[in-house]
Amino acid sequence: MSESKLHITQTVEALRAHLGPWRDAGERIALVPTMGALHEGHRALIRRARAMAPRVCVSLFVNPTQFAAHEDLGAYPRSESQDRDMLVAEGVDLLYVPELLEMYPEGDVTRITMPGMGDCLEGEHRPGFFTGVATVVSKLLIQATPHVALFGEKDFQQLQIIRRMVLDLSLPVEIEGVPTVREVDGLALSSRNVYLTDEERAAAPALYRALKSIRDHLRDADGHDGGALPEMVVREVDGLISAGFTSVDYLSVRDSATFARVDDMMSLAGRPGRILGAAQLGKARLIDNIPL
Ligand code: PAJ
Repeated sequence: MSESKLHITQTVEALRAHLGPWRDAGERIALVPTMGALHEGHRALIRRARAMAPRVCVSLFVNPTQFAAHEDLGAYPRSESQDRDMLVAEGVDLLYVPELLEMYPEGDVTRITMPGMGDCLEGEHRPGFFTGVATVVSKLLIQATPHVALFGEKDFQQLQIIRRMVLDLSLPVEIEGVPTVREVDGLALSSRNVYLTDEERAAAPALYRALKSIRDHLRDADGHDGGALPEMVVREVDGLISAGFTSVDYLSVRDSATFARVDDMMSLAGRPGRILGAAQLGKARLIDNIPL
């Protein structure tokens, strides 16, 4: 492995001291926010960042405000030394690993809330999740002030919420979405896939297949009257349960920008649509989505 030029910083002050001269020299800076346990999905973001900017900063912070009390904050997978190896191999310039008090100073009270688009789907099933995400991402964007920040389509609602927040707060950053990286059988890569047993892993691609069935159904029904989407969704939910999923939080067709419900292709009137799903499989909660 080539000699590391990866700098590691833990404070906002050190982060800015590193980024300032690059920015002053006119170099574009890309930020890739992560919670670590890096995999090929993260790698795709970093490579896209590399292609867009000569300076790439990755942040690694397991953000407690986006975990509910019953969720896996304490058990969230960590692989710090492998993560560092990947960042070195990808030629990342800076790794920002803030301590809790750097992100949430003593007495912290400020939160960014996103009513409506932050309360449905993931927001409905994980109350407070998008408040945590929007808050921590706004902090990271203010701390690093990158020219561009990259997020995966794997977490499509998160990506769109961040785009909306950046627009609403006039944050001076470009948001770049990166397509979902999948295993050969279609399962979207996720740090949480390590929770799956062999048997569950074999069943896991059924979620992606269900999304594709709904898409095919809607496309076939295009121009016809209705196409009975609700019945189709019920069939796919039953299929997931038969495949071994414990429960299905949602399978839903939405407007890509507003997350308003979509009943058929006609109601989209040419706007982009998205099919999104979330389901529990053993200890892992899987989410996935595809364009309509
Ligand atoms: P994390 O789950 O570590 O994901 C970091 C980034 O990698 C996110 O933008 C996510 O969408 C992207 N990503 C994950 N799996 C992917 C895949 N299979 N293909 C493409 N991109 C993928 O998402 C978070 O962290 C946090 O919510 C964060 C934005 C860092 C805020 O705490």
